Amino acid sequence: MKRAISMLILAAPVALAAPLLAEDIAAPPMPAPGSVSAAQALEAWTRIEAVVTHPRCANCHVGSDNVPMWTLVGETRTRPHGMNINAGESRIGAETLMCSTCHVTSAMPNDMPQAPPHAGVDWQLAPVEMQWFGMSGRDICAQLKDPARNGGRDGAGLVEHLVHDANLKGTIHWGFVPGGGREPAPGGFENHLRDIQTWVAGGQPCPG
Ligand code: HEC
Ligand code: HEC
Repeated sequence: MKRAISMLILAAPVALAAPLLAEDIAAPPMPAPGSVSAAQALEAWTRIEAVVTHPRCANCHVGSDNVPMWTLVGETRTRPHGMNINAGESRIGAETLMCSTCHVTSAMPNDMPQAPPHAGVDWQLAPVEMQWFGMSGRDICAQLKDPARNGGRDGAGLVEHLVHDANLKGTIHWGFVPGGGREPAPGGFENHLRDIQTWVAGGQPCPG
């Protein structure tokens, strides 16, 4: 088992080098200052909220019990990840079983039903201060614009993070193309990027 896994990991970079270099996603220019009204920004937030509360995103942005959630194809109920998986305080499973044991780091498409999904960055839970699971859209909104709880990012930093993740085929990218018959986060990556830009340009308003 151990041998098979290390061979998989060794083989991955060779297979992936070409597609990764071939693509380069860039953000469209930010809307001109003053061109987005608070009402338009709030409307963009409504669509952003549908993304960040969607299981493809929220199931990894969980709280301090460090338990990833899953919502399996054919089920409507979200429940704790099977097999007693706990990410530990490391949020990557270092204390027990690394997430990457099953979720190998790979930018290849995720096509196989019921297989552990993967991304071009190491699979792990989001930091606990970025918890979205079980929170209201309003609270997530406040958190997403608070640099103390969003990885120290201003609005431009959030946009930059999305683009960076897409170029690596990271976990945000995965949420929009999860494969294996899973329902993607709504709207598509490019529209989400534009909505974030609109929300940022309009002053990051949150629902009252
Ligand atoms: C023993 C193998 C294994 C380990 C270790 C593992 N997972 Fe998974 N994980 C799976 C499998 C298999 C699936 C897909 C289940 C399905 O779709 O039927 C999955 C799915 C997921 C999903 C997708 C859920 C959804 O509804 O979109 C998330 C999130 C996830 N795992 C997080 C983690 C995290 C975080 C860790 C490390 C703490 C981890 N997993 C460790 C096997 C594993
Ligand atoms: C496999 C787990 C996983 C999934 C699935 C996931 N994320 Fe994350 N997310 C992370 C990790 C880890 C970080 C921390 C990375 C960092 O800050 O550099 C993070 C950080 C973020 C951040 C940074 C700022 C903040 O305030 O939280 C945003 C924005 C984000 N994710 C959006 C999303 C969106 C949108 C989706 C679904 C389309 C998603 N994530 C799905 C693991 C995940």
